[in-house]
Amino acid sequence: MKVLGLETSCDETGLAIFDSEQITSDNQGLIGQVLYSQIELHATYGGVVPELASRDHIRKLVPLFNELLEQCQISKSEIDAIAYTKGPGLIGALMTGALFGRSLAYGLGIPAIGVHHMEGHLLAPLMSANPPAFPFVSLLVSGGHTLLVAARGVGQYEILGESIDDAAGECFDKAAKMLNLPYPGGPNVAKLAETGNPNAYELPRPMLHKGLDFSFSGMKTAVHNLIKDTEGSGDDPKIRADIAASFQYAVVDTLVKKCVKALKQAQMKRLVIAGGVSANSQLRQQLADELDKINATVHYAPPALCTDNGAMIAFAGYQRLQAGQCDDLAVSCVPRWNIDELPAV
Ligand code: KG4
Ligand code: ZN
Repeated sequence: MKVLGLETSCDETGLAIFDSEQITSDNQGLIGQVLYSQIELHATYGGVVPELASRDHIRKLVPLFNELLEQCQISKSEIDAIAYTKGPGLIGALMTGALFGRSLAYGLGIPAIGVHHMEGHLLAPLMSANPPAFPFVSLLVSGGHTLLVAARGVGQYEILGESIDDAAGECFDKAAKMLNLPYPGGPNVAKLAETGNPNAYELPRPMLHKGLDFSFSGMKTAVHNLIKDTEGSGDDPKIRADIAASFQYAVVDTLVKKCVKALKQAQMKRLVIAGGVSANSQLRQQLADELDKINATVHYAPPALCTDNGAMIAFAGYQRLQAGQCDDLAVSCVPRWNIDELPAV
């Protein structure tokens, strides 16, 4: 089954084709993908402007679709089903991909299914060369979400913990803004942190010993105060690098400790990590060290599938389509949607 995946929930227009008949040991069925990032469009505003995002998705969807067909050397009529991101995300942005996908499916007389964006992220590591088996604990860390989920099968998700305020990626983005680094903040803070001392400043680790929920909003104030306290020397590259490194260490340390706790609580030995922040190399390093101590393993999506993309939507859609699930002609996008509300497959 060839499934076209469409991702337009935020600032990336991602399209891909997954073919279940082309799964080999080193290619999990992804036969082509195209991605257009709107980063430059939003950079001057320091964050995503929803109306600009929607308009740009509309401009890009058709040309990207034609480019994808060309890349995969297939025609429209060879597509068997379409999966589009139905939520959570920016409502206008979601509507563009959903309407494009639903109408195209109607025109082609094929089924369509609305996919949960975070299920896309959660299942993306299964597209790696050595995919982890269920059950596993998943840490989903993106610009909009920080979630710890016990996954026992496709659609069998139990939320173990989540952020009660800012998401981890959002926290990186806000710290970057305060350090006058360009959007998106995560990779830029990580780069600046490379030359800094992570122990230079002690930053808070909110809710570290309280269950499995996270709170990152206090981190913003802490970074703000630190920049104020070091005013005068604030432009000193060494101090800026130390602040970035100490901040990154505090976020990573919190994420790693909660992952270890979640694995123990769920009595599982596999951790799967996905979402934009999973690209952070400090997080990867610390997780590898700490999980090794408890004989647990950590699994990631291939780097290109860590951030938003159409492949994860095609793959998640396929899991449900092959079990007979699909949506009717009505298009209903959901900006807020809990992952544990999904039906099991
Ligand atoms: O999953 P994603 O691409 O989009 C959302 O669904 O939000 O995640 C984007 C988030 C942004 O907040 C970005 O700053 C963060 O992931 N990010 C990183 C890194 N790369 C991306 N955060 C920390 N370190 C990185 N290397
Ligand atoms: Zn995402």
